[in-house]
Amino acid sequence: MSYAEAYARWQSDPEAFWAEAGKGIDWFTPAEKTFDPDQGAYGRWFAGATCNTCWNAVDRHVEAGHGERTAVIYDSPVTHTEARYSFADLQSEVGALAQVMRDHGVGKGDRVIIYMPMVPQAIFAMLASARLGAVHSVVFGGFAAHELATRIEDAAPKMIISASCGIEPGRVVHYKPLLDAAIEESSAKPDHCLILQREIEPATIVDGRDVDYAEAVGAAKDAGRMTECVPVAATDPLYILYTSGTTGQPKGVVRDNGGHMVALRWTMEQHYGVKPGEVFWAASDVGWVVGHSYICYGPLLNGSATVVYEGKPVGTPDAGAFWRVIQDHEVVALFTAPTAFRAIKKEDPTGALIADYDLSNFRTLFLAGERSDPATVQWAEEKLDRPVIDHWWQTETGWAMSGNPVGLGQVPVKHGSPGVPMPGYDIRVLDDGGNEVAPGTLGNIVCKLPLPPSSFPTLWNAEERFRKSYLDEFPEFYATSDAGLIDEDGYVFIMARTDDIINVAGHRLSTGAMEEVLSAHPDIAECAVVGVADALKGQMPLGFYVTNDGVDRAEADLQGELVAQVRQSIGAVAAFKTAIEVKRLPKTRSGKVLRGTMQKIADRAEFKMPAAIDDPAILDEISDALKTRGLLP
Ligand code: COA
Ligand code: AMP
Repeated sequence: MSYAEAYARWQSDPEAFWAEAGKGIDWFTPAEKTFDPDQGAYGRWFAGATCNTCWNAVDRHVEAGHGERTAVIYDSPVTHTEARYSFADLQSEVGALAQVMRDHGVGKGDRVIIYMPMVPQAIFAMLASARLGAVHSVVFGGFAAHELATRIEDAAPKMIISASCGIEPGRVVHYKPLLDAAIEESSAKPDHCLILQREIEPATIVDGRDVDYAEAVGAAKDAGRMTECVPVAATDPLYILYTSGTTGQPKGVVRDNGGHMVALRWTMEQHYGVKPGEVFWAASDVGWVVGHSYICYGPLLNGSATVVYEGKPVGTPDAGAFWRVIQDHEVVALFTAPTAFRAIKKEDPTGALIADYDLSNFRTLFLAGERSDPATVQWAEEKLDRPVIDHWWQTETGWAMSGNPVGLGQVPVKHGSPGVPMPGYDIRVLDDGGNEVAPGTLGNIVCKLPLPPSSFPTLWNAEERFRKSYLDEFPEFYATSDAGLIDEDGYVFIMARTDDIINVAGHRLSTGAMEEVLSAHPDIAECAVVGVADALKGQMPLGFYVTNDGVDRAEADLQGELVAQVRQSIGAVAAFKTAIEVKRLPKTRSGKVLRGTMQKIADRAEFKMPAAIDDPAILDEISDALKTRGLLP
């Protein structure tokens, strides 16, 4: 079936399309309705069915006689270790871990926070939680204590699974002190923390609360104790993944069990063109949605192997790292962010290192997470001599809304476009009044409801916020908060966010959250953080602030404090390095800070003088401040 046929088949009968895809999943009891329009805000998929995600990702492959097939490949240049786990090994690791979790009181519906580096135990923890019918929430290791505390507060986990430390090139990330500080800050307290002790920096264990991961799981394995998969409703939550919103309070995107499995399994063969037994590698982090869907669940649901890579595209040890991993593990498809390729291109502009490795198994490169600039895509196409596929998705959906399904048969690539709409997504472009615009016209990108399987049914503990953020602005549509266009051939182009989310090295960050940190400084009267263009990371945050009257401090000292505060509160991942003092912020007459105009000035882009600006002279003050800092010529 071609892409056009698949899309047409979905359009003519969405329920039949997804019921067919649902045959790729083992159900304990089948769905009463493939789609129930009366449940949830816009309906629920596979209503009435019961299932278990861990069963489908692990046990059923063992049961089918594929226990010896490789499931997880751990490749860690930062610790110089490699390990392989077959599906049978994975079943034993996950079953024993789930038993330990159950012994410590974790059951169906309980939340489990996972705060871990890129080690296989992070995958085991996600699957063990799924096995018990518990709800995991993975927190990215680059977030600091306060961000972790916000998530502990909201999810109220019964258990936290963490490691003593993470390893960044040249630096050990002290997870345990961050974890202890976050638990201290949060009013919700976990009953237990399961701590994976890493040789490089073992952590202090808190008596009564902390449990040594290796000891406890080892004891369960020795005693032959392992938990079976607990049936859950297809509509029960599998996980909560917090993502940046417009404020410092992140949004808890909820993923269900049934629809998620159906959609991801479908994408593995139809979109990525990867078969059971082959090796798929998503070079991301388990803390992001890409890591959830394509380091953990997608490949394993498909019976494919996944690579857990604890390293970087450059520096571990060089820009040939990706080619080495592809060669060593016979990777057939790589999925990463364009930033990684920009970093490789910067260090090895001629791609000379590629020739040092045997990439004969490698078929396709997939890019997502941020806009793929055509120059980077062209470079990758030329150097790799293979298809380079950009595809567009969000934490909210869990899989690509637009792409290029190489499994079904690739459609022509248009540079700058992340492809065509995937079955399940009726993508439209609307003006601010909610009217559909002509092809090629910029506007708000929306999807007609209902969203397909795997897309989020709600936000954790925040149904009202869910409706307000996503459904109210354009009735009958899901508002993606991306702006862009669809051309005459039906290709989608994503140009920018319509909210204050920025994308730094493929990491989704809230400028609102950074502003909250700056505003909390006693010397700051007001501030604005914008995302400015960056040749490597796509965007970088840039802060402007006005001090309180009477504050008389050396600018460099105050700026150092502000940078340190963002790092301490949000984390290193915010990459907040520059704060600039200004006398005033440009505003409209009604007092709205003109962030967009400031961003355009910093980006040296053309801008129209905002009609409602209070005092245009302030824009010159902003330019002058940027010039003084050498950020404008
Ligand atoms: N745990 C702790 N700290 C982390 C971390 C983690 N898991 N991930 C990143 N950080 C830290 C980095 O060490 C860095 O700290 P520093 O300020 O002390 O140098 C900071 O967060 C910013 O990280 P990053 O923006 O990633 O920059 P970098 O210079 O370390 O690396 C790249 C640059 C291009 C190599 C890196 O950004 C990359 O691999 N990007 C690919 C993006 C990606 O996979 N995105 C996922 C979505 S698909
Ligand atoms: P996240 O939820 O972290 O996956 O970030 C989602 C956001 O990243 C989207 O709303 C887009 O703004 C951006 N994004 C993701 N993939 C692409 C892509 N292929 N092209 C352009 N922007 C993208």
